Amino acid sequence: MSPGAFIAILRKYQEKPSAICSLGLAPSNHVGTGIRRFSQFWMKQLKMMNVYHFTKNWESYYMKTLIIYATTHGCTQSCAEKLKAQLAGEVDLVNLKGSGKIKVDDYDRVMVGGSIHAGKIQGRVSRFCTDNLASLLKKKTGLFLCCMEKGEKAQKQFEDAFPAELRRHASASGLFGGGFDFSRMNWIEKAIIKKVAHVTESVSNTDKEAIARFAREMA
Ligand SMILES: Cc1cc2nc3c(=O)[nH]c(=O)nc-3n(C[C@H](O)[C@H](O)[C@H](O)COP(=O)(O)O)c2cc1C
Repeated sequence: MSPGAFIAILRKYQEKPSAICSLGLAPSNHVGTGIRRFSQFWMKQLKMMNVYHFTKNWESYYMKTLIIYATTHGCTQSCAEKLKAQLAGEVDLVNLKGSGKIKVDDYDRVMVGGSIHAGKIQGRVSRFCTDNLASLLKKKTGLFLCCMEKGEKAQKQFEDAFPAELRRHASASGLFGGGFDFSRMNWIEKAIIKKVAHVTESVSNTDKEAIARFAREMA
C-alpha cells in the first residue's frame, strides 16, 4: 500500500472513527479512536527519532488544504494551479469570485493569493483576510501575490496587500511574478499598459522557482 493511500485511510478514521466499523475491520468506535491515537503517537516518535523530512511529507499527505485566490486576467489562477500540483494531500482550489461562504475551519492549511492592479490587490482578497483573520491565525497559512513590479516595489505592494498580523503569522510568502494577457484586457486596460509599461503584446513573467519554494515552505 502506498503512503498516500495509508494516510487517506488514517484521515478517514480521524474524521469519522465509525468508518472503520463500516469497513468491517473492527467492532466499535473505540477502536477507530484508538487507531487515531496510535497514528498520532507514531508521528511524534518519528519526529523524535529525527526522521523529520519523512514525517513532514507524511503530515502533508494527511493535511487538508485550501488555496483561495482572486484573478483578473487568469495569471493568479494559473499560478494557483501550479502550486496545487506541487502539494500533497487533499487540496481544494477556490476562486473567490462566486465561491460563496468558505469554511476556513475545515482546513489544516490555507494559502491566499491575488494580483495587483493599479497598486492594489482585489477587494475580495482583502475582505476574505479581514473576515477570516481569527481562523487564519490558527492555521498554517501562506500568502502569495502576482504582479509585474519586482524587488522593493513588489515587496511594498505585498505588504500593502495583506494585514500585518497575517504576514507575521504566515509560514510562506510568495511573489510569483506576473503577466500581461492582452486577449483578456479591455481597451482601457490595454491603453494603460501600453502607456505605463510600454508593452504592446502578451507576456508572461511568472516565477516557477518562487512557486516551488513556496510549496516546499508550506509542506
Ligand atoms: C490595468 C492593469 C494595472 C496593473 N497595475 C499593476 C501595478 O500597479 N503593479 C504591478 O506590479 N502590476 C500591475 N499590473 C500587472 C498585474 O499585476 C499582472 O498582470 C498580474 O499577472 C495579473 O494577474 P491576474 O491575471 O491574476 O489578475 C497591472 C496590470 C493591469 C492589466
